[in-house]
Amino acid sequence: MTDATDQRLAAQYEAYPYPARDPREEAKRLVVGSPSHLREVDHWIFGARRPASTPLRALAAGGGTGDGAIMLAQHLAWAGRPGEVVWLDRSAAARRIAEARAAARKLPNIRFVEGSLLELPESGLGPFDYIDCCGVLHHLPDPLAGLRALTGALAPRGGIGLMVYAPHGRTGVYMMQDALRLLAPAAEPPPARVEIARRLWKQAPETAWLRKNPWLTDHTAGGDAGLYDLLLNPRDTAFTVPALDELVRAAGLRIACLVEPVRYDPDSYLTDPRLRARTAALDPVGRAALAEAVTGNMGIHIAYCVSADEAEAPPRWDDPESVPVLREMDGAALARGLPPGGVLPVAFDGLRVPLPLPRLAAAILGRVDGRRPFGAIADELAANGVPREAFWRDLGALRRAMESMNRLLLAAPP
Ligand SMILES: C[S@@+](CC[C@H](N)C(=O)[O-])C[C@H]1O[C@@H](n2cnc3c(N)ncnc32)[C@H](O)[C@@H]1O
Repeated sequence: MTDATDQRLAAQYEAYPYPARDPREEAKRLVVGSPSHLREVDHWIFGARRPASTPLRALAAGGGTGDGAIMLAQHLAWAGRPGEVVWLDRSAAARRIAEARAAARKLPNIRFVEGSLLELPESGLGPFDYIDCCGVLHHLPDPLAGLRALTGALAPRGGIGLMVYAPHGRTGVYMMQDALRLLAPAAEPPPARVEIARRLWKQAPETAWLRKNPWLTDHTAGGDAGLYDLLLNPRDTAFTVPALDELVRAAGLRIACLVEPVRYDPDSYLTDPRLRARTAALDPVGRAALAEAVTGNMGIHIAYCVSADEAEAPPRWDDPESVPVLREMDGAALARGLPPGGVLPVAFDGLRVPLPLPRLAAAILGRVDGRRPFGAIADELAANGVPREAFWRDLGALRRAMESMNRLLLAAPP
């Protein structure tokens, strides 16, 4: 199902494939993020139970210029893991960039298909073990129809990594969009609209809420593609946590994790016992909704979702065979740099959360290399006189701090 707005959306991503990327940059860095970091997929979707040797069939639905698809394909390739990532998008312009990025990296495990994700059911593509859908559903005429199309293409025990816009952290965006609908109507050619938007942004008075919003930079740092996507997009619908939960449930899924979990836990910053007594009475969605409302800084939600029908199979933190991994951190360097006093000062878009670390944090983190299982780490510490109960107790505390930051995760078994 498309409408005139959807046709304008299609024209937007032909004129301004998103995000703006130069394939030559691939030689310098890999763009990493969430969702679809392979370590996250292993942990949050598969509970670190799906063997790395089992081929992973993945889809990047609305893959754009390729960030998620390239990252996942590269992670698989670097790890020597079997599988394939299918990039699917309607934008031919985005495809050219994503394909050039994959070629620059000589990725053999990525395939490009031009088409609408709404046509997945009859496409013959799939089933997929993992589907990335980042920044797409909120632009569709019917986000639920889009999510159902994805769910229909999921293999048993598969999962989806979603990113959708969230309203509070986007404060100012919708006002500026309203203003631009008046000054640069959607019927005008995209370059003319961009020019007017730039002029308006220069002159928008200091009272404009977007000026006060430090978390959004697409209009200032994202080039024409970023500016268009943020301020001139023909359709974007932001989802609060309860709205996202409703969407996900209606598609037969459940949220396994909101990234980063600590941001969605109001107890991370509400320490007053009277408040804590009340947060304790809330269900997980209520707690996350409270966190969203009280922090005010969430401009997106990243959610890993799995089938609502399947039994929960969480990562096994108490299994000596489980292998911990750090996400984009080096265990030894981290262990050396841990602050005295055992509190890790972390900030998420300005939200400061002190994360208390246990006494053995450095000793454990220094041994996390993606190969040693917990049992081996416990053995090494025991040889240095650390009782095993102390290891498992402190591991629990370390997990509470660092899994909640989406940093300490469990690896897929071999
Ligand atoms: C904001 S971009 C996100 C790109 C990419 N997922 C990322 O996060 O970097 C949205 C993308 O969704 C694509 N898109 C929108 N509607 C679509 C549809 N019905 N089927 C396939 N792709 C679609 C657009 O062409 C565009 O590339």
